[in-house]
This record gives sequence, structure tokens and C-alpha cells, in this order.
Amino acid sequence: MTGSVREPVVESTVESVVESVDDGAVIRTRALTKRYRGGQLAVDGLDLTVPAGSVFGFLGPNGSGKTTTIRMLMGLIEPTAGSARVLGHPMPRAARAVLPHVGALIEGPALYGFLSGRDNLLRYDAADPTADPRTRRARVTAALERVGLTAAAGKKAKAYSLGMKQRLGLAAALLRPRRLLVLDEPTNGLDPQGMREIRSLVRELAAEGTTVFLSSHLLDEIEQVCTHAAVMAQGRLIVQGPVADLAAGARGRLVVTTPDPADAARVLKEQGVADVVLAEERVSAEAPSADRELADLNSALVKAGVRVRGFSVERASLEDAFVALTGEGFDVAG
Ligand SMILES: Nc1ncnc2c1ncn2[C@@H]1O[C@H](COP(=O)(O)OP(=O)(O)O)[C@@H](O)[C@H]1O
Ligand SMILES: [Mg+2]
Repeated sequence: MTGSVREPVVESTVESVVESVDDGAVIRTRALTKRYRGGQLAVDGLDLTVPAGSVFGFLGPNGSGKTTTIRMLMGLIEPTAGSARVLGHPMPRAARAVLPHVGALIEGPALYGFLSGRDNLLRYDAADPTADPRTRRARVTAALERVGLTAAAGKKAKAYSLGMKQRLGLAAALLRPRRLLVLDEPTNGLDPQGMREIRSLVRELAAEGTTVFLSSHLLDEIEQVCTHAAVMAQGRLIVQGPVADLAAGARGRLVVTTPDPADAARVLKEQGVADVVLAEERVSAEAPSADRELADLNSALVKAGVRVRGFSVERASLEDAFVALTGEGFDVAG
């Protein structure tokens, strides 16, 4: 935000917020920066664009600044510098207008342990002045159903497992139809089955037109569910864009299966192929960029008498892209 242009703080009407999403972006940050009091630079000059309708994965190892960014987006903390717009409005200034349209699950949802799951949601819903009390019970029942907590709805929240607490937090975010869902590590504490359920719920919500912004330190989770992603490392944005493009940015691997691996490796090297790795009956190497070169390699192998059983290019994963971009492994250790 430049200092000279003052934007009016728009009062909360669904229309004003829905209409004013800037240029198809539901989240847009400019040089967003957070330095904590202790001096820790947690987020460093972040320019993020989250397109409407996307399932956007905010990916990065622990400590890379994901939660800090999300807390700035939700107006929970002030940026040190830079700006953030959510649904077309500046945050935290327009928080009152914007937040009713945003469902959020942020690190360890705040729950009343002595209340049941259902009563937690009833209380949460009651705290929203725009929520109609006459339809409160129905909303809560539907949200519990959606996250698979119907059977456990009467149990005290303090008896919930971490995964159940996470689901209850998600149910709170789903009480009302939202333009945007912001989920900070939504599968934390869930078992593989629970993770699958969250993934399918996210897909369902996206199909209904909700933009979902979710953070994760798990690469394959992002690959499985997201259309777009941004990769963070040490508070900085490394790359962002459609997931397919990000992975394509890293070269795939050529894989040759053969009973003559030593010969195959020699031929590939002679052909100038980089990074040849030999493992029993499998030789892999950096894939060439053009299909024509691929055909030439295949014929060179055959001409040299290498018995080729399999010849393929494995698509690069987001992890390959991360390694290619940072020169480091994707290390989740915090
Ligand atoms: N309240 C805080 N005060 C000081 N430093 C913090 C605070 N919260 C987070 N940090 C530091 O900021 C960095 C980013 O943290 P965080 O945003 O939580 O990352 P992530 O969510 O990606 O794990 C880390 O180095 C973390 O230790
Ligand atoms: Mg975090």
C-alpha cells in the first residue's frame, strides 16, 4: 500500500467483499515482512498472489515463516513492513469486513476443554454477530457431520485426540459458507486415514468454489491436493505458481532398466548425459530436454548392444523442484 492512496474501510456486506477481489486474487501481499521483537526475521519481503478458485499450498520446512504469514493475513499480528490484501481489502485494517468471509484454522485451535465438541461449536457460532441464532443448531450439526465428528460430538473436547481437536477446529471454520478457507497445517496430528479425509474435504470445498489456502511442511500432501503452490525457505519465497509448472521446472529423470547396467551407463555418459546413477539393473540420469534426443539415446543404447527392458522418463516431483531451486534437500527438521 502506498502512503498517498487511502482506501476507505468498507463495511461488511457480502457483495462489497465478493465484488472487490483484486484481479482474480483473493490474497495478495507486497514485500510483506515480519521481524519479531527478539529480532528474528520470520518473513522477508514476501510477494504472494493466490488466485481465486485455487487450492493453494503454502509449503515450507518448519520455521520457514508460514504461520507468521498466515497470522498477518488474518490480521492477528501487524507486519513490520509491506502490505497484505485479503478478498481485495487491506489487512489488518479491513479485518472486520473481511473476516466473516474467511474460515480459518490456525495452529492449535482454541477450545474449551470442559465443553463438548458440539457445545464448543455452538459457542463459537454464537460469538459471530452475523450468524442467525435460529439456524445455529443446524449449522453446527452439518459442520460436525462434514468433519466426521458426529459420533464424538457429545464428548468433552479435553478427551479429544489431537486429530479430533484439529477436526473440531476445521468444523468451526466450516460453520458458514466462506469465500476463503485458510488452514495452517490442517493434517497435523492426523493419521493417514484422517489425512485422506481432510484431502477429500478440501477437494470438495474447492469444487464448491471456495478458495483454499493451506500450509504444510509435507511435499506430497501439497502435490496431491493443490492446484497452485508457493515454496518458502527461511522466511523467503523461493517460487510460486501452478503445481504442474513448478514440478516441470525441474528436469525429470531418465530411467533405463537393463541386465547390462554398466554398458548402459557408459553409453549414456558417452552421449553426454548428465548425472548418471547406476543401481543394479536400473540406470538413471538427467532427462534430456527434447524428445528427439530421447529417441537418439534409445537407439544409441540398442546399437551398442545394451539389452533395454525399460526406457522411460519419470516426471519430476515438487521435491525435485525444491532441491533444484535451493540446492538443498527438503528438510522438515525444525
Ligand atoms: N512469537 C514469536 N516470537 C519470536 N519469534 C517467533 C515467534 N513466532 C515464530 N517465531 C520465529 O519465526 C520463524 C518462523 O516461524 P513460523 O512462522 O512459526 O514458521 P512455520 O509456521 O513455517 O513453522 C521461526 O524462526 C520462529 O522461531
Ligand atoms: Mg507453523
